[in-house]
Amino acid sequence: MSEIVPLLEARNVTMRFGGVTAVDDVSLVLGEVELRCLIGPNGAGKSTFFKTLTGQLNPTEGRIKLRGQDVTGLLPNQIARLGVGIKTQIPNVFNGLTAYENVLVAAQRGRSAAMAKAMVEKTLARLRLEPVARRQVGQLAHGQRQWVEIATVLAQEPDLILLDEPAAGMTHEEVERTAELIKEINRTQALVVVEHDMQFIRMIAQTVTVFNQGKVLMEDHVDAVLADQRVRDVYIGKAAA
Ligand SMILES: Nc1ncnc2c1ncn2[C@@H]1O[C@H](COP(=O)(O)OP(=O)(O)O)[C@@H](O)[C@H]1O
Ligand SMILES: [Mg+2]
Repeated sequence: MSEIVPLLEARNVTMRFGGVTAVDDVSLVLGEVELRCLIGPNGAGKSTFFKTLTGQLNPTEGRIKLRGQDVTGLLPNQIARLGVGIKTQIPNVFNGLTAYENVLVAAQRGRSAAMAKAMVEKTLARLRLEPVARRQVGQLAHGQRQWVEIATVLAQEPDLILLDEPAAGMTHEEVERTAELIKEINRTQALVVVEHDMQFIRMIAQTVTVFNQGKVLMEDHVDAVLADQRVRDVYIGKAAA
């Protein structure tokens, strides 16, 4: 009998900065084409854990595997080449280029000119971004810029997409559209989405992993998580602090 190898497997990951333990013995397993949300109050360690997955940080302890291959300590570009696409909290688009050109820059990696163009058109259509294709990204609304950036990630056809707070700073309409877009991408790709906004989690999430003080507080279906008193307490506790 062959064993099922998960797409992503983090085992006992710990990240310390001097005396601060930002991530404390976190394990997480993600299957092919799974959508996972990481939530938790500010300072819970979500972004730090995210960065250990992307190669931006080398964990102090623990191992990270992609389809069984140990990738712990690899550099971000090496991890990207293994089929992982990343959108961090820091914007990564060229404001002086159009949406089309931004996606083209990404799509050109490893493709002929004709193949790249076809991929740009396919990606813009899939995310319903054709109306802004010829506009300069610097002149788009905040939400539209975020979607263009997600398109640049998708155009590289990663098997796994990691998004850190994709709905941050968005209007309610933009948050709803971002949720739709993530669900569309999840038809073909696995995603790990770090998000603070509970409304957004409600719109997209299936399985949710809750972080608190560097540890996994719970992991369950979104409905169970949102109904859990401990989760309410850590959010309300933070909001009141
Ligand atoms: N580069 C760093 N150096 C020192 N401390 C850090 C660094 N990055 C994050 N931290 C600390 O780690 C903890 C978790 O932060 P972070 O992962 O950004 O939380 P979240 O994304 O859940 O808001 C916080 O206490 C933060 O101050
Ligand atoms: Mg963060």
